[in-house]
Amino acid sequence: MANNPVYLNGRYLPVEEAHISVLDRGFLFGDGVYEVIPAYRGRLFEFEAHMARLDNSLAAVLIGNPHSLDEWRGILVPLLKGGTDQYVYLQITRGAAPKRDHLFPENIPPTVFAMSSPIPPYPERDTGIRAVCLEDSRWDNCHVKAITLLANVLLRQEASERGGAEAILVKNGFVTEGSSSNVFAVLNGVLVTPPLSRDILPGITRAVILKICRENHVSCREQSMTIDDLKQADEIWIASSVREVVPVVDLDGRAVGGGEPGPAWQQVNRLFQAYKQSVS
Ligand code: PDD
Repeated sequence: MANNPVYLNGRYLPVEEAHISVLDRGFLFGDGVYEVIPAYRGRLFEFEAHMARLDNSLAAVLIGNPHSLDEWRGILVPLLKGGTDQYVYLQITRGAAPKRDHLFPENIPPTVFAMSSPIPPYPERDTGIRAVCLEDSRWDNCHVKAITLLANVLLRQEASERGGAEAILVKNGFVTEGSSSNVFAVLNGVLVTPPLSRDILPGITRAVILKICRENHVSCREQSMTIDDLKQADEIWIASSVREVVPVVDLDGRAVGGGEPGPAWQQVNRLFQAYKQSVS
């Protein structure tokens, strides 16, 4: 096998040799779904939860899951190098039809692609990041992990140009999520995160945070929050598989709480790191 292979439609190949058709519907229409799964010390983290979300995403866009859970594990594990922290990216599109047509093609196999990448060190996790609030301009199916990410890309870029490491999105006055993360806030001593709906991705990191908070008697609630709630929060965090749990210390140019990572983040980040160690 190649040194750092990628997986494409049943084969492991060097990335330079992995090619898809220009008629692939992922390329033409953004017609596909994806997952990002961290692997610590060579072990996939929350694998079943990621695969359950993949099932839901595929069902929502009417693509059949081409593989069983065990087949997926068999495909992904060879991409991992033991010892290092990595994440696996996997993508399934509706495949390459003979011609460009919005209608679903018949009898075309999906395109299945997967690769692994190192999880880069994220020193800002300890110091905190700046974030900016932006209007959530995405579609009505944000619970689906679709590859169609143009709105997310534009929002993240705008945040970056305004000095933010993440855009916190607001829809009709309510906080939804980050451009590539879920959002938590400490409001009057309670950790709050928006409830699951079509407006947010059911983040796996979000679910782990809620689970470890409940197990460790950290007061937490799934509850809608307004932009004004967020502005008054003692702490704000973002959470994702690649960045984990990151404190936001500056929102729209104003210090959050004391302008430093707060005590609730210190506690929950410790619990999160311990949980990671215990399952990998
Ligand atoms: N994104 N919300 C959005 C819009 C996301 O894109 C992500 C993750 C999350 C957090 O989900 P999880 O905890 O399962 O990673 C929430 C991945 C990392 C990405 O697109 O690269």
